[in-house]
Amino acid sequence: MKDLLFPDFLKSFGASLPWDRRLYKQDILGSQVHCRMLAKQGIISREEEELILKGLGEILREIESGEFPFSMELEDIHMNIERRLMEKIGDVGGKLHTARSRNDQVALDERLYLREEIRLIEAQLLELMETLVDKAQASLRAIMPGYTHLQRAQPVLFSHHLMAYYEMFRRDLRRMEGCMEGLSELPLGSGALAGVDFPIDREFVAKELGFKRVCRNSMDAVSDRDFLLEFLSACSILGIHMSRLCEEIVLWSSQEFGFIKLADLFCTGSSIMPQKRNPDYAELIRAKAGLMVGNLVSMLMVMKGLPLAYNKDMQEDKRPMFETVDTVKDCLRVVTQMIRTMEVNSTRMAMATEEGYLTATDLADYLVEKGRPFRKAHGVVAEIVRSCVERGVPLRSLGLEELKSYDEAFDEDVYLVLDPRASIERRATRGGTATSRVMEALEEARRELEELRAALKGAEA
Ligand code: ARG
Repeated sequence: MKDLLFPDFLKSFGASLPWDRRLYKQDILGSQVHCRMLAKQGIISREEEELILKGLGEILREIESGEFPFSMELEDIHMNIERRLMEKIGDVGGKLHTARSRNDQVALDERLYLREEIRLIEAQLLELMETLVDKAQASLRAIMPGYTHLQRAQPVLFSHHLMAYYEMFRRDLRRMEGCMEGLSELPLGSGALAGVDFPIDREFVAKELGFKRVCRNSMDAVSDRDFLLEFLSACSILGIHMSRLCEEIVLWSSQEFGFIKLADLFCTGSSIMPQKRNPDYAELIRAKAGLMVGNLVSMLMVMKGLPLAYNKDMQEDKRPMFETVDTVKDCLRVVTQMIRTMEVNSTRMAMATEEGYLTATDLADYLVEKGRPFRKAHGVVAEIVRSCVERGVPLRSLGLEELKSYDEAFDEDVYLVLDPRASIERRATRGGTATSRVMEALEEARRELEELRAALKGAEA
């Protein structure tokens, strides 16, 4: 049977307009600068320049007020704008595309777009980092078990734990800056792939659009999506950090842990179990991190077998790009508020440090200080812990006599080392969990945040 609608279907199958219409601002900006350069170089006349710029200005207003007649027939935002320009100012509108191809045009638009979005993401990251510092500062008294293999290991300050995430997000910020570096070269002026045969001024365009340099190789410039892969990768890693934090939030807010209480806003109930406080939003962030990794893998797969230069496959970069931009910003927004508003139950945290023999390492260290080799001390303490576990009693409950029966080096002062808070304060090496060190880290972070904020402001200006 003949499918009469097939040609229409095919048009929409081949179109990128549903996604790339979001690039209208960048597309128009690029066109404005391109047009001014063409006139400056005498490639078009000043009158033509004026007409084109006026037309582009009107088109911008039409799009922003929702009056622009988008047409799927025209595949993408670039052709939609060009066609509209010709409707408005006639044939002269066709001169705008002189010395340009959609291949270098789309490469430009995406770079401009990502540069803007990365600045916004960086600002959000700074806010999250600041929120972590605030929370860590406010919770300095709270102690909790630190875990390895999700088994209670050694007591730590809750603030120290939070500040570990600060470090992760600090690295994410660095990766975003790395992306900016990858976005600092201008692809426009590469033409379809081979360069153009007009006396254009690429340096002028680069400067006007805020690029540091022009891309050195025209074929690379139009077929390169490394900047997008880098961005998707940076967002994936950031997503993974948010996901790990959210996984802890899920655990901590469970009845088993009871370390934190999420604000009501971040909890949903169950339709049949009235006692439930489900951490839905933390769970969603955990899942969305997976979607962002998926977008990275999607783009890696799209690019991996492509010969030079532009191939239509590359049009499929739009959905992953926009989706990851939206997702990462949404997640940052939610996780920041979730941290800001959560309540810390320091009593429950402290209770958890009492059970689980968290100070066993301190007991071994005690024997080492008394001159025993660490391996030997470790063996003795393992035996003591085994016996305590069997009887279901804490280390602290053992009398000095009994301790001496394991090793006569034990003395009255041993009880000091069995206190979890004392254990924390002894870990005063740089980067350790002692309160003095964590306070140092907080101060350093505050200074760093101030510098980073100033740098971001400077970059915007
Ligand atoms: N819609 C295209 C894309 O998004 C624009 C570039 C098209 N170039 C071409 N030669 N068909 O990738």
